[in-house]
Amino acid sequence: MADDKPAKLISDLKIDTDARSTLPYDQWVQGLGLPLHTGYFIEDCRTIETAPWDFLGCNAAFIQLAGMEGIVDARVTEIAPGGTVAPYRFALDEAVYVVDGQGMTTIWADGVGKKTFEWGPRSLFLIPRGSIRQFSNARGDKPARLISNTHLPVGMSLVPDPSYFFNNDYQDTQLLETSEDELYSVAKRAPGGRGASWHGNFFTDLAAWNGLVPHRQRGGGGHVVDIRFPHSEMGGHMSVFPPGTYKKAHRHGPGVFIMIPAGEGYSIMWPEGEEKVIVPWHEASMFVPPNNWFHQHFNVSVEPARYLALSPIKQMRAERNNRLLDQIEYPVEEPWVRKMYEEEIGKRGLESLMPEEVYQDPHYKWTYDENEEQGAVLDASAGRGL
Ligand SMILES: [Fe+2]
Repeated sequence: MADDKPAKLISDLKIDTDARSTLPYDQWVQGLGLPLHTGYFIEDCRTIETAPWDFLGCNAAFIQLAGMEGIVDARVTEIAPGGTVAPYRFALDEAVYVVDGQGMTTIWADGVGKKTFEWGPRSLFLIPRGSIRQFSNARGDKPARLISNTHLPVGMSLVPDPSYFFNNDYQDTQLLETSEDELYSVAKRAPGGRGASWHGNFFTDLAAWNGLVPHRQRGGGGHVVDIRFPHSEMGGHMSVFPPGTYKKAHRHGPGVFIMIPAGEGYSIMWPEGEEKVIVPWHEASMFVPPNNWFHQHFNVSVEPARYLALSPIKQMRAERNNRLLDQIEYPVEEPWVRKMYEEEIGKRGLESLMPEEVYQDPHYKWTYDENEEQGAVLDASAGRGL
């Protein structure tokens, strides 16, 4: 059981900053000797291998998918049944998604009292930079798993020493000097974004999060909600799209961390004119489209499908936002895309609900009712029975 003092980062690694082919962050991760999961996607973050990490006194693993490209990281923290990991201070904002289990996070800083909040499956929370954090598992019968998403790879390219980021005394107490309710109360709706922007450090359960608005640009009759973390450049959005549909292919810059809170389907990712990668997904799947690769999401289940997308900071996005170049409208997509979808959904005894007109009319508009236009809470069928 850890005490309240921050743990030391144990690493005798010498980072070779002249080795330009390997980023300082990559050298550090490789030197830790923990499981490192690579490739294009993780089908189930709940089951990937972890191993003991002395620094936190728990099992951990690192994920470096092709599309992360040295911009963002992903780290698995596995908390033993009834366990508490060592507290640590971290210099950057840390977004944490709960892939499995229930527990508590306690946050504090020098001169600022502890704040504790509870989380469960599919919770999302942001821990402000410079604060000390400690995670506990509230259950005695199974481990809990968290995935942290930060900009540590960029940070370590600037300062190639992990001790600058872990347990450095830097803190900004103003980020924590709010009432406990304010800091980790459930996120609140705020103006801005695409009509439904939610502002806060804590999102209880993304499979149940409603209050989305129509997302016309990407097709499929989908909805979207923008996620904003206070006092942070980090943020993202969640998209929800109905059974029997798929979205338009699009592309953008690297480092967009995608996690699936609910639904079942697959995504296709490809660099223009080249081989395709098929990503099967369900709850707790994760993938990151590589820089400028097209990607397209398909729902093959009877439920709405959801994906959370955490975007990198603005100057890392490398977005062109050119709709003509960076999005493929249904009438001009390659015919196998539709054929494969109809086959895949057919294997499950379902049919495509894509209107025939979408393949003829590039300006086809899905209909949304008036409440949806206003960002009203979706009905039960769109919210996993809630
Ligand atoms: Fe995307």
